[in-house]
Amino acid sequence: MIVVTGATGNIGRSLVGRLLEQGVPVRALTRDPARAELPARTEVVRADLVEDPDLAPLLADAEALFLNLAAGGASAQRLIDAAQRAGVRRIVLNSSLSITDSPVDDTNFISRSHAEAERAVRASGLEWTFLRGGNYATNALRWAPAIRATGVVRDAHPGAQSAPVHEADLADAAAVALLDRSGAHAHQIHRLTGPEVLTNTQQVAAIAEVTGRPARIEQISEDEAAEAMAGPHFPIEAARQLVHLFGQSIDAPAFPVTDDVARVTGHPARTFAQWAGDHAGDFAGHR
Ligand SMILES: NC(=O)c1ccc[n+]([C@@H]2O[C@H](COP(=O)([O-])OP(=O)(O)OC[C@H]3O[C@@H](n4cnc5c(N)ncnc54)[C@H](OP(=O)(O)O)[C@@H]3O)[C@@H](O)[C@H]2O)c1
Repeated sequence: MIVVTGATGNIGRSLVGRLLEQGVPVRALTRDPARAELPARTEVVRADLVEDPDLAPLLADAEALFLNLAAGGASAQRLIDAAQRAGVRRIVLNSSLSITDSPVDDTNFISRSHAEAERAVRASGLEWTFLRGGNYATNALRWAPAIRATGVVRDAHPGAQSAPVHEADLADAAAVALLDRSGAHAHQIHRLTGPEVLTNTQQVAAIAEVTGRPARIEQISEDEAAEAMAGPHFPIEAARQLVHLFGQSIDAPAFPVTDDVARVTGHPARTFAQWAGDHAGDFAGHR
């Protein structure tokens, strides 16, 4: 039995599918099973990882846990403790390439929660694998409303560079690590990026290519971009840090391209063009 947190999310939904394909029983956690729309063979369990006082029953009979901090990251320590008590053998942590393994990690909003979770998982004594992902291709979904409505994306850094990684590749790597009985992935850090570096302008062009409708970036200030990004669950300070970070990747991407997706999964990393094709429906409509 493998327990998947964030099971209805970008990575989790793909991951549940992969594990079921391998014939492995999956317990998928969601706050709302009625809306989860997961495959019939999934054991879908209601859980609010922030609110629920007792997380132990969620891990009963589990061999491995996929821990995604997007699913109530503040409760990561409680979940790790519960996993330890339940006899879970390994934890695969969805972490981040923003971690530098230096004290800076604790001062940076983006890396702090992942660095804390990595420390807590290491301290648990369980087998672990850290999947440090670079820039997720799904970040481009933030442009979807503008692309659908007008084709004009407002962005502070059209020239920002990154190697966007497809959620299906993150899920494939997670499945390999969760199912690893050889120990090959135990206590390993995988650095997962997409296969090629693109600017934001090039990403928008790739999306226009699959929708068949023009799309372009109109440059705005960093403050405007941060204000647009901030919200009830994303403080303005964090948005400023993130927008500023994007700006630092104009000369070179923040994270160099790795071949870890291919090395871990056995297949090449999916391109951004492929991602855009898989998400064409998110960018089509309106206008
Ligand atoms: N974006 C990037 O470039 C990047 C790079 C590196 C790392 N990361 C990390 O990757 C993670 C995002 O992964 P993702 O894209 O797969 O996430 P996602 O698509 O946003 O999915 C998160 C899922 O978590 C569940 N969830 C939220 N609050 C919950 C709670 N209180 N209790 C239980 N479940 C809860 C939600 O499921 P329900 O609504 O069904 O409950 C949701 O489907 C973040 O931790 C981020 O820091 C992101």
